[in-house]
Amino acid sequence: MTPEEFRKAGYQLIDWLADYRTTVGERPVMSQVQPGEVMAKLPPSPPDQPEDFSAVIDDLDAIVLPGITHWQHPDYFAYFPSNATLASVLGDLVSSGLGVIGLNWQSSPALTEMEELVCDWVRQMVGLSQAWRGVIQDSASTSTLVALLCAREQGSDHSQARGGLQGFSSPLIVYCTEQSHSSVKKAALLAGFGLDNIRVIPTNEDYAMRADALEAAVEADRKAGAVPCAVVATVGTTATTALDPIDTIAQAASRHGLWLHVDAAMAGSAMILPECRWMWEGIEGADSIVINAHKWLGAVFDMSLFYVRDPQHLIRVMSTNPSYLRTAADGEAINYRDWGIPLGRRFRALKLWFMLREQGVSKLQARIRRDLAGTSWLREEVLDAPGWRILAPAPLQTLCVRHEPVGLSGDALDRYTLAWVDAINRSGKAFLTASQLDGRWMVRISMGAEMTTREDVARLWQTIRDQVAEMDPARFQQENQSGKQ
Ligand SMILES: Cc1ncc(COP(=O)(O)O)c(C=O)c1O
Repeated sequence: MTPEEFRKAGYQLIDWLADYRTTVGERPVMSQVQPGEVMAKLPPSPPDQPEDFSAVIDDLDAIVLPGITHWQHPDYFAYFPSNATLASVLGDLVSSGLGVIGLNWQSSPALTEMEELVCDWVRQMVGLSQAWRGVIQDSASTSTLVALLCAREQGSDHSQARGGLQGFSSPLIVYCTEQSHSSVKKAALLAGFGLDNIRVIPTNEDYAMRADALEAAVEADRKAGAVPCAVVATVGTTATTALDPIDTIAQAASRHGLWLHVDAAMAGSAMILPECRWMWEGIEGADSIVINAHKWLGAVFDMSLFYVRDPQHLIRVMSTNPSYLRTAADGEAINYRDWGIPLGRRFRALKLWFMLREQGVSKLQARIRRDLAGTSWLREEVLDAPGWRILAPAPLQTLCVRHEPVGLSGDALDRYTLAWVDAINRSGKAFLTASQLDGRWMVRISMGAEMTTREDVARLWQTIRDQVAEMDPARFQQENQSGKQ
């Protein structure tokens, strides 16, 4: 493709995307295709001869769009908001168009320096002190893995420079809760701690880590000859947005020499509001933090911000520094290859920089406040509605709800819950996620898509009530009884 052909196709594709964003609300939110349907429409082998590019664009409409679940839809209330503000989309395009890779500062100085800049801008936006230094990772999963690698090396006196964990006789222990994201367990396993050395600390009635139980577990481990190493606390857990008490956990971590990693992947976006910062009170006592700016905040995926207090320790853990990558600027500039796992990095900073300049902090704050207010409004509606229960505190933008018709409980209630949420999702009117809490199914209403207004939230509530009104709870009770026979 020549630059002139690119210009023509590019204009066409920008128009296509602008039309998509304008009309996305008219589409069913959840893709209606069956497994294998997209693949069946595509040739099994690559084209031997060049194709006209217009055929590719045609297939976007005919094949790709039906297979899309629309995360940018105003009626999207599933998983978590992953906003892709259009300014950040343009930043991503420029990053791809420039086609540079950061290997060291010299390989594209602006890539390094602007990454440093945007990480610091967000640091200021969320009210962190100047003690923190940031780096962009692809995902919270990677950030948490890097955090636990740092913890492992701190807890084992840099064992990787000797025999690694294999040469270390006492097991190193990681602490989290059953509400921690699955990426925490994955990171602990990949970092070599081993399943036997992950302690799941009990939570309180609000699904937050019990700091007293953490202390007790640490002491028991120490008595047993193990080495307490790291605690991963979450601000805004995935299921219910529970808030682990960072302040008390940080004090315990400091007393026992634990690395404290805070997973604020979801809630970090809300910290741009001063009135929300009580949710991570004590954060300055942490060693590392992850904030996914590709969630609620709105920088198109992937944009996971990883902050550490001690970049020298991070560099010591992650650096291998082969000779061909050494330059005269080493020592004067950051080499982000030593701040994470991959050597090469995309110019991700551009998409955050574009978004921050186009929106300004105040516009982002207004949107987050809008979503918090929308969640409070819906919470009141649900509380006032007979037969409905709110199952967990809702400090952020996620409501955990269940409709409990008289006479339905246990497995029958589970089947009923799954049935009504499935009916809504399949109708295409809205998209919600069912999830288990205390072993029973409930429905998460996760607000915060950029286009979702109060009217959309009100319409969702009407859709939900209409759907449950159509259900026959007795049918689920009977299925239960016949299931038992
Ligand atoms: C609290 C929390 N941590 C971690 C993750 C994982 O994020 P990522 O997909 O960036 O690895 C999520 C995603 O839902 C999350 O909600």
